[in-house]
Amino acid sequence: SVLNVNYNQPGHDVSPILWGIFFEEINHAGDGGLYAELIKNRALSPKRHGSNLDGYAVVKSEGVDGRIYVSRENPLNSVLDTSLRVNVDSNVAAGQRIGVSNNGYWGIPTRPDYTSYKASFYAKAVGGFTGPLTVQIESTNGSVVYATAQVPSITEEFQKYEVTLTPTPALIQTPSLDNVFTITANGPLTTNVSIFFNVISLFPPTFKNRPNGLRTDLAQKLADAKPSFFRFPGGNFLEGATIEERFAWEDTIGDIAQRPGHMGPWGYYSTDGLGLLEYLEFAEDLNAEIVLGVFTGYALNGESVPPEEMGPYIDSVLNEIEYIIGNTSTTWGARRAADGHPEPFNLTYVEIGNEDWISNDYHLRYAIFYDSILARYPQMEIIATQVVDSRPIPVIDDHFYPGFGWFPDNHRYYDNAPRNGSKIFVGEYATRDNISPEEYANTAAAMDDAAFMTGIERNSDIVIMACYAPLFGHLNNLAWQPDGIYFNGVQSFATPAWWVQHLFSVIRGDTYIPTTSDADEQKFFHVASRNSDTNTLILKMVNTDQNDIQIETVTLEGVTSTRGGTLTVLTGGRWDQNELAEPLRVSPKSQAFNVTSNSFSYTAPAFSLSILEIQL
Ligand code: AHR
Repeated sequence: SVLNVNYNQPGHDVSPILWGIFFEEINHAGDGGLYAELIKNRALSPKRHGSNLDGYAVVKSEGVDGRIYVSRENPLNSVLDTSLRVNVDSNVAAGQRIGVSNNGYWGIPTRPDYTSYKASFYAKAVGGFTGPLTVQIESTNGSVVYATAQVPSITEEFQKYEVTLTPTPALIQTPSLDNVFTITANGPLTTNVSIFFNVISLFPPTFKNRPNGLRTDLAQKLADAKPSFFRFPGGNFLEGATIEERFAWEDTIGDIAQRPGHMGPWGYYSTDGLGLLEYLEFAEDLNAEIVLGVFTGYALNGESVPPEEMGPYIDSVLNEIEYIIGNTSTTWGARRAADGHPEPFNLTYVEIGNEDWISNDYHLRYAIFYDSILARYPQMEIIATQVVDSRPIPVIDDHFYPGFGWFPDNHRYYDNAPRNGSKIFVGEYATRDNISPEEYANTAAAMDDAAFMTGIERNSDIVIMACYAPLFGHLNNLAWQPDGIYFNGVQSFATPAWWVQHLFSVIRGDTYIPTTSDADEQKFFHVASRNSDTNTLILKMVNTDQNDIQIETVTLEGVTSTRGGTLTVLTGGRWDQNELAEPLRVSPKSQAFNVTSNSFSYTAPAFSLSILEIQL
């Protein structure tokens, strides 16, 4: 077969924001994942959510009697309207202890890079106890104490206490999850003491040391992919199972002790500690364009807010935009400054809802939000999630979760899309087939994705953005498979599918270069571009077949000679996947590409993505 790279016929600009990321709270992607908080159920699920002590247990020395329970009579405040009560039901002798433990999201992690933790909590006591309290990270059976600190005294009123926990270095060399966080009172204590807690919190070092920040290894994996945009907060998480349980951004900002959290649609309560400002700051840290999904009156149970009752929801979205871009003389811009970020963020893309093809009144709601947002913020680019004719659609969000074969068969999906119509945002996609709980995205699935992505890049005059979904899966809570990056509390690994995303994103050109080939179009896929900054010609080739594909002659038309370059290959067995025990089994390998002529042969290995960066 032959492959012609028509460098002498440069085409359209490649969208400068083509490859990005989409985050939503699913599979514990946020709580227990990217959001670095280590304590589970920090806010004790306020009353509205049926308060519970999930994650907590009483800690008591042998012979001591005591219990923990939810106290509804001792709320921390009007938002977090309960507290955790430790009741001392016997005398506690000197040398004995009583208190509470939390086992985190499937274990409290110790790892070599967690050299210091910030612990904080609100506490008060009655019955004559005034402290001290001992704060520790210890093994579940109590035999190892990694770090310990003391709060010298507490009072009868709730106050916030903070300590730093510094683990003994020798104890944290081997990552471990079989640990708990404890707060205890030491004897002697009398039987009528009660100690109350709320917002018990424990943070390891965070990404870029942001307070209330993100888990370093997970955030770094995203940063390493150099995403151009960051879509959040959902997905179904934006809509909520009911209107009441939508992503209400106003409840996700400010002091974490004032965030009620809400029940997410993926089977667990979200603290909303990862809230609007944390998302915005992460976009800033990534240097990524914000793609803001806004709630527009539709929930997953089919409830729609009638147009005549839409006022508060429109105000909420306009306020949200003001919180993001308003200067500090505006109400919500001032609130953002008070929350710690005086500088406005840049915002261009606002997405009206999510997957609203399942409702039957999107045309009405789209028109209302389109008009309201553009009247106040005419500079916004509006993204629709369903084709309706009630208003223009500057950008349409397409989602794809097909089985094997569909992406390769449809790599020309956008070739004939109208060039004068809406721009396209492929806001969610992944090959999704044969997925059992033991299966993550395998090499074959990754290559099907890659085949489609050659079509996205080829059509990036109209397909302006694309992002894989879902991004994250906690290995202990997989509501949706496959995901891009899997993790537990101490380790993480990228799937072959995520490596495809990573490579397409980090190796990019700015001008599309047409390619033609007589190789089997159902198996061999190709796209090229030029990077003017580095003066390279980039050729991406995908083989979705089980056999190698030999391209006897690759010709770089219009290039006389080159200075060689780099060849990066991602390949593996058809069903090969990465896992904790072998996180890099399928991962990219780069080598020098020494060919300097404009004509060469190349064999694309079975199930592979090959990227040539040819120095001109
Ligand atoms: O990515 C998982 C889900 O798929 C998203 O929440 C939703 O938008 C889509 O249906």
